[in-house]
Amino acid sequence: KRVALLISGGGSNMLRLVQDMTGDHPARPVLVASNDPGAAGLARAAALGIPTAAVDHRAFPRDRAGFEAALIEPLLAAEPDIICLAGFMRILTPAFVTRFAGRMLNIHPSLLPKYPGLDTHARALAAGDAEAGATVHLVTPELDAGPILGQARVPVLPGDTPAMLAARVLVQEHRLYPAVLRRFAAGDRTPVTLC
Ligand code: GRF
Repeated sequence: KRVALLISGGGSNMLRLVQDMTGDHPARPVLVASNDPGAAGLARAAALGIPTAAVDHRAFPRDRAGFEAALIEPLLAAEPDIICLAGFMRILTPAFVTRFAGRMLNIHPSLLPKYPGLDTHARALAAGDAEAGATVHLVTPELDAGPILGQARVPVLPGDTPAMLAARVLVQEHRLYPAVLRRFAAGDRTPVTLC
């Protein structure tokens, strides 16, 4: 299976996915693309010999469709079977999402359906939740609402700040996403649960 990965920043999730796609893994990375030409993850991908592409969303002010028309070119050229959004911070239009229905995955730093959208850790802390975590789901037109493919849970600890909780969750994202992609690329949709 050919996997394209979309990032916006450091790409730590992308890196873990790429590092896992070796040996008997049913998938291989074919492209890493970003909405930010300065995304540090692009250099990390290039250093691993993975083709990269960047389309600066700031070049398309108030023109989401224009940005996506530019982004889809290198994406389709890579002929991906699966697309992994990994720290990708742009909302995609229903038209774009629908083109990859059933084969676009995203990782979100909360236990969906709780806390779709931004500032998930601050919201979990404000709610006094005993646990938090991350979710990998299929991308549908509704933001952070698609079928869940896996979740990882972490405890919320006394004195946690959003940054402390984010760091604890990120460690689990790096375990969860590769586990989900292995299963998904093998055609297995049973959800992954990591404690
Ligand atoms: C992280 O906060 C993660 O929770 C979310 O995107 C952010 C950056 O991830 N998925 P990455 O290091 O760019 O993969």
